[in-house]
Amino acid sequence: MKLLTVHCKSVSISYKHSLCSFATLFVAITTLSALIIPFYIVIFANTDLWHQTVTIYEQPNITFTYKYNFFGIMDNDEIVACSSQSYVSGILENVSKCSAIKYSEEDYNNDGLPDFMDLSFHLDIPKERMITEVMVQIFFEGIIKSDCFLNIPTVFLLQEHTQINSRTEVIYTNQVSLQQKTSFYCPFFIRNIQSRFNPFTVNTTNFNDYQTMKIYKKLKMNPAFLGFENGKKFTMTTNGNHAVIRIQTDIGEVAARYHTSIWRKVRELSIQYFCLAVIFLLLVQKIKDYAFSRFIVRAWESIPWKKAY
Ligand SMILES: *[C@@H]1O[C@H](CO)[C@@H](O)[C@H](O)[C@H]1NC(C)=O
Ligand SMILES: *[C@@H]1O[C@H](CO)[C@@H](O)[C@H](O)[C@H]1NC(C)=O
Ligand SMILES: *[C@@H]1O[C@H](CO)[C@@H](O)[C@H](O)[C@H]1NC(C)=O
Repeated sequence: MKLLTVHCKSVSISYKHSLCSFATLFVAITTLSALIIPFYIVIFANTDLWHQTVTIYEQPNITFTYKYNFFGIMDNDEIVACSSQSYVSGILENVSKCSAIKYSEEDYNNDGLPDFMDLSFHLDIPKERMITEVMVQIFFEGIIKSDCFLNIPTVFLLQEHTQINSRTEVIYTNQVSLQQKTSFYCPFFIRNIQSRFNPFTVNTTNFNDYQTMKIYKKLKMNPAFLGFENGKKFTMTTNGNHAVIRIQTDIGEVAARYHTSIWRKVRELSIQYFCLAVIFLLLVQKIKDYAFSRFIVRAWESIPWKKAY
């Protein structure tokens, strides 16, 4: 019967010497260098790691906070408007108001984050009138938190010349997108900096500050903001006697850039280090085997099957 080697066990030969000997020094130096050399290799091979950024895809948590300004200018220069800001609604005291504002959101995958938002302004305008210009400003709360909690200014802005009569519904469809100027900073134990954003609610008593351009300019001064990329615009005829301006938004993942954190670096470096150190330790083992078995380094050899000299 042919026999297979199913397992083998090596017999270890020990080499002995006193603490103060060349053999002990040799073992100490080789073992230590097997641990230290990989460390330097990893550090020098990764000098660019300190400047790297990581991109994390994440769906922002966007909440409608009922902060908005809506202005519609009619062909006879009359205004139909509504606003959640007390100062603006004060100014608009004598102009006709939106007849209704409706908001709904949907969470398709039940993860607690809205995937779709639908906000509509319903306007009662005289049959013979036409809205020729609309201005819409909606302030949301937008949060991303995969690396750290970041409250990013989130504003929908629209200013457009249109032709909307009392039986028209206009639907603007959008996609949320992150406009990022600089990579985000998240704090860690030795670096306590975090990207900062201007708290974004336009609350002034200067009507000029509500100009769409002004708001956009203020928005752009932030390291990043969540904007609404215009998709398609649809027009429908309604059977009621309201004009409707509807803003529909899909919220998907956005790509956010971050400066790498120390933890990420440490994790990456330690994996590389351990792999290299294992290889170096195996190598050093071979060198020691060679050096001792050939008596390049002298020590007392004790072989288990040879009884002591
Ligand atoms: C609204 O109209 C009333 C009465 O005509 C007037 O007293 C008030 O000043 C007006 N408000 C504004 C903001 O123009
Ligand atoms: C999203 O934000 C809202 C309001 O701040 C909060 O109630 C909700 O729990 C958040 N959802 C998740 C998944 O964090
Ligand atoms: C806006 O500012 C006014 C006065 O400056 C203040 O009374 C009001 O509470 C502010 N509103 C918000 C929402 O911050």
